[in-house]
Amino acid sequence: MPGAAPAPALPPLRASDIPLADPYSLYARYRSGDPVHFGADGSWYVFRHSDVAQILADRAYVRGPRPAWVPADECPHLARTVRNWMVFMDPPLHGRVRKLAAAAFTLTVVRNLEPRIRQLASRLADTLLEEDEVDLVERFAAPLPLLVIGELLGVPPADRDWFRTRALDLQQATRARAGRSPNAFAVADTAARELDAYFLTELRRRRTAHLSGAQYGDDLIGAMAERAGAAGLGDDVVTGTCVHLLTAGHETSTLLLCKGLLALLAHPDQLAALRGATAPGQMAGAVEELIRYDPPVQMVTRARQPNRDGQLAGRAIPGGGSVVLVLGSANRDPARFSHPDRLDITRTPGGHLGFGTGPHYCLGTALARVEAAVGLTELLRRMPHPVLATQPVYGDDLVFHGPSRMLVRTR
Ligand code: HEM
Repeated sequence: MPGAAPAPALPPLRASDIPLADPYSLYARYRSGDPVHFGADGSWYVFRHSDVAQILADRAYVRGPRPAWVPADECPHLARTVRNWMVFMDPPLHGRVRKLAAAAFTLTVVRNLEPRIRQLASRLADTLLEEDEVDLVERFAAPLPLLVIGELLGVPPADRDWFRTRALDLQQATRARAGRSPNAFAVADTAARELDAYFLTELRRRRTAHLSGAQYGDDLIGAMAERAGAAGLGDDVVTGTCVHLLTAGHETSTLLLCKGLLALLAHPDQLAALRGATAPGQMAGAVEELIRYDPPVQMVTRARQPNRDGQLAGRAIPGGGSVVLVLGSANRDPARFSHPDRLDITRTPGGHLGFGTGPHYCLGTALARVEAAVGLTELLRRMPHPVLATQPVYGDDLVFHGPSRMLVRTR
């Protein structure tokens, strides 16, 4: 057609170009214009659902020799701990560690914990009403998953505050570079050292007690202490897994509680439908759609690399190249979900990639779903008509994506 200008080429993407509060229209431009895009940082950004799902399931895409984002000279303890996190492992070690944790972290364990999660959420939600305005992150969304994972791991109540401080310190380093404070690595390194030592002491205590005829304990530390030897896994793997479950198990859930509420506030009709919900499972269904609509993990970065030269959507990807999988874009792909930009808590968003897929599929899905459903239910019970006091402040991170501060009026 004469006069029709060719679509302008999309500029090389930098993560810092992606708007934090609403990255979705930028994703849409790249997903249709350049779905496997070579970014300004030298990484390949993958935007389409089919491509992201394929790579996540493909054994030819590996995590690589070690997580390059932790500078081992600056923070040796953190580097050592992170090396034992299954999310950064490749087969065969990955399978063995995952099996150890999965055996301890079963659906039954999570189901049995649900009444306790409700009790904790209910108590926290009650305290919110003591003030006119609260930071939901600090007062509810962060403490709830931390208390829960602390109980699952078997951290005694007296140690919970100590544990929480270290967990928050550790979180400093797992943030993307732009979101870190200048001394984040030093702070996180100390936290990693202290947490490792804590879990090692616990592990040894359980073993000694067992030698005297006691049970290992029915928490995750006990279950792993009991099985690690037979699985041929050392203490460093067990303590590293405990620290990993602690980090993986709270920040994402915190973000889901906040972003879930934000999405509902932006869609009053959906919030109203949920407020009047009576059918069992309605909140659970809504949670699944909230994870699809605005996933807490927007992208999986940090060295997913093809182990040989290959092709993806017509682009040549060199072996060892760094590939970034944009889960947030995949979940809004119109080729996979009808009207993907519409929040519809009645849809069944099967196949969303908010928890990843393939060998590294999130181990904590059952817990994450229960925490979010129970947490949002208890919040809406106390605050049926929540109102934002100010616009939320987003943490500068797209891996763990969401508000770092969210002021809400309680009445
Ligand atoms: C892996 C998301 C909660 C433990 C993952 C992955 C995603 C994810 C996207 C895949 C990472 C990759 O492929 O590189 C989420 C979200 C959560 C959540 C959105 C909450 C809303 C939890 C909880 C736990 C947990 C509560 C445990 C207490 C893990 C572990 C892995 C993982 C251990 C690594 C699995 C492996 O490498 O085999 N999660 N997660 N997650 N998640 Fe979650």
